[in-house]
Amino acid sequence: MRLVILGGGGFRVPLVYRALLADREPGRVTELVLYDLDAKRLDAITRVLHDLVGNILDAPSITATTDLDEALRGADFVFSAMRVGGLDGRAVDERVAADAGVLGQETVGAGGITYGLRTIPVAVDVAQRIKRLAPDAWVINFTNPAGMVTEAMARHLGNRVIGICDSPVGLGRRVARALGVDLSEAWLDYAGLNHLGWLSGFHVEGVDRLPKLLADGEKLESFEEGKLFGAEWLQAIGAVPNEYLHYYYFNREAVAAGAQRGAFLKTQQERFYADPSLESWERTRLERESTYMAETRDDERDSCDLDGGGYEQVALSLMHAIANDRQATLILNVPNGSTLDAVDGDAVVEVPSVVTANGARPVSVSQIPGHGVGLVATIKAVERATIEAALSGERKHALKALALHPLVDSVAVARRILDTHPYLSGEFRAR
Ligand code: G6P
Ligand code: MN
Repeated sequence: MRLVILGGGGFRVPLVYRALLADREPGRVTELVLYDLDAKRLDAITRVLHDLVGNILDAPSITATTDLDEALRGADFVFSAMRVGGLDGRAVDERVAADAGVLGQETVGAGGITYGLRTIPVAVDVAQRIKRLAPDAWVINFTNPAGMVTEAMARHLGNRVIGICDSPVGLGRRVARALGVDLSEAWLDYAGLNHLGWLSGFHVEGVDRLPKLLADGEKLESFEEGKLFGAEWLQAIGAVPNEYLHYYYFNREAVAAGAQRGAFLKTQQERFYADPSLESWERTRLERESTYMAETRDDERDSCDLDGGGYEQVALSLMHAIANDRQATLILNVPNGSTLDAVDGDAVVEVPSVVTANGARPVSVSQIPGHGVGLVATIKAVERATIEAALSGERKHALKALALHPLVDSVAVARRILDTHPYLSGEFRAR
């Protein structure tokens, strides 16, 4: 079984490899291929992976390459985990948005759109190459903004591309812990788009446990989402939102907090890549996890939220379900079909999906909470305009994408972002 990671020099790759090393199931990965543009980053990560192996004898082999086509040939699974423009690009997205007075988060608001404009052409090129060189491969997309990137890739790869995110399962895990139940026993009634979803029910043995949790303010505020939104707000909306909804429900405060995550990570990561080792990777990872969304929190993150085990576990379960035809239900980014009324059938949505050897199919869930329907429809329109802009290079689509986003409060602001962003294609600027 050959797994290829695009963005193989990325910082979170050792999490994936650690999960592969622990995997004893049939159909496990035997060959890992890391592809990256940057040979130095590949060297650094390869070094950490070798340290992780220790004295395990049957560890998956590791090869690294800067040749994309060579990497893709013969792939069974492809993880796409790229960051086009690097952390420098992320920092610039944040700064340009902040200078215009709006949110520049990497997936939400203006920052997500400028990041999407930069990423989609690359992701589509990758999708076309996979279709040509590894037509039977399954593609698991982690590349953000994951919803729109998965949708753009799906135009070429159909159901062979599946988007994943660790935030819904993280939310599920925290709710399970608050209720004192085992997550594997629960059915999560979760629906939305990537980084824009709500948990409307948490069923254990046929009983929805969420209403009781919502009624218990103290328990609600014992875990991350409860602290983030406050029990009163969760009770008012009758659901637990994905943590990224914080940027909508508390937009003014988020903009005022002026987080510079990109700039912070850029410095932090440069330090690691200059002198890589397993020990400094561990330290850097812990610092990265404990400062995640720090601007939204008064106190420290729960220690159980720092462990990882999110996205690499979802990816591994997904791979096994496909490779071994062992049915699993996971919250994934897949084409909607007739699942959610808020968007059309081709729209990629984030919902519980049943995975078998034939891929992932969404299952029936509750609809999005009433107050969120308009928002989801609007954000899907924004994602589509971003895709059109990225593929056509036309300013009018990029302007629509930015100006229609509810967190960009004026067409003038959208124009300003297009005219001042140093990383955007010149075609997007006013003539
Ligand atoms: C979560 C999200 C990912 C995102 C990451 C950012 O895991 O689900 O989509 O990439 O956070 O973390 P970072 O440390 O880069 O801010
Ligand atoms: Mn995510």
